[in-house]
Amino acid sequence: MTDVAQSPTALGQVQESYDAFKARGLKLNLTRGKPSASQCDLSTALLSLPGANDFMAEGATDCRNYGGAQGLIEVRRIFSGIMGAPADQIVVANNSSLALMHDTVVFALMKGTCDSTAPWSQPGQQDGIAFLCPVPGYDRHFSICQEHGIRMIQVPLRDDGPDMDVVEKLVAQDASIKGMWCVPKYSNPTGSVYSDAVVARLAAMKTAAPDFRLFWDNAYAVHHLTSERVEIANILELCAKEGHGNRPFIFASTSKITLPGAGLAMFAGSKENVKWMLARLAPRTIGPDKINQLRHARFLKDEAGVTALMDKHRELVAPKFEKVLEVFGARLSGISGVSWTRPKGGYFISLEVPKGMARRVVALAKEAGIELTPAGATHPYEKDPEDRTIRIAPTFPELPDVAQAAEGVALSVLLAVSR
Ligand SMILES: Cc1ncc(COP(=O)(O)O)c(C=O)c1O
Repeated sequence: MTDVAQSPTALGQVQESYDAFKARGLKLNLTRGKPSASQCDLSTALLSLPGANDFMAEGATDCRNYGGAQGLIEVRRIFSGIMGAPADQIVVANNSSLALMHDTVVFALMKGTCDSTAPWSQPGQQDGIAFLCPVPGYDRHFSICQEHGIRMIQVPLRDDGPDMDVVEKLVAQDASIKGMWCVPKYSNPTGSVYSDAVVARLAAMKTAAPDFRLFWDNAYAVHHLTSERVEIANILELCAKEGHGNRPFIFASTSKITLPGAGLAMFAGSKENVKWMLARLAPRTIGPDKINQLRHARFLKDEAGVTALMDKHRELVAPKFEKVLEVFGARLSGISGVSWTRPKGGYFISLEVPKGMARRVVALAKEAGIELTPAGATHPYEKDPEDRTIRIAPTFPELPDVAQAAEGVALSVLLAVSR
């Protein structure tokens, strides 16, 4: 084990390297979990699609006009395999799956689900309803709960998914637990992939709330970083087999496939859930942006088209992850209490530092010119009880900047642990 703290020479060297880095006056940013401009360039062709006279979709659908609440069948077919649902059990909405997740939570709060006897906002419990939140997790999931007064109960997230002993116990005894956030593949920020055993237990578990829902946010379904295209078990089929067909609300989007600012969001579920969702959407819109859907159908063509495009993303993104891992490996290996994830996909690396040091590391990095996601953002109420987790987002800056930023983060960690 390297123990920087015990060697004054080592401490002096770390301080010197950190000061030298800081003196370079760099402005780097590792907070943004978004595609780089080069990644967006991969989909620039979308901007000239569909052609001026290309507006009729299958079923004599005039995409210029109102209607088509469920979305074009062309798009639903392309994403059927990725969503793990038949095309008739998918709804295609406008950009942002986050918006769709937010609205789904609000719909359930206002109206209840198709299995509810009352809206979730009137559960009969004094403290309102609660969601299980695997941690570390996605800050914007937590913001939805916070915004709408949903209590958040943390459950530990491991490499193979949430700690199911904890989850099963909680949902079995507490009827106020109505939902659970799940990012089953290449989770934000750890890169965890739910094992088949975990998915099977989520499908089978007994819940005290009859209208409990898994918010299955498969945001990184096709966002591989290695040649291994990791697959997960089919939650929709497993839940149906266990007699809990309505349990999963499945979400995904093309935000990080095509363009985040002009993508498509998708919802999938049982026939009953789709009917419920369409009923909720009916008073809200007379139809989604079908021109954008047609544009995507023309551009992606089929699932193989999505795969080919994601291979190009991988070529741009994987070297950035490799660079961060290389720098961390060289600088931080063997430091007690310091570890990091090696994701096979997704958009993040999760860096763990010794207890009580994450905020300090983020502050030191900031002083040295590197913006990091605030410590705590990976936990409900922005409070990481151990102050250990730092989310690293390497996709947006160009490779040389990623390399420098990783170097600066590593020096900040070394300095924090050596003082
Ligand atoms: C887990 C997860 N879900 C959803 C989103 C946002 O998706 P969208 O762009 O479709 O709203 C992100 C973006 O970082 C994410 O990490």
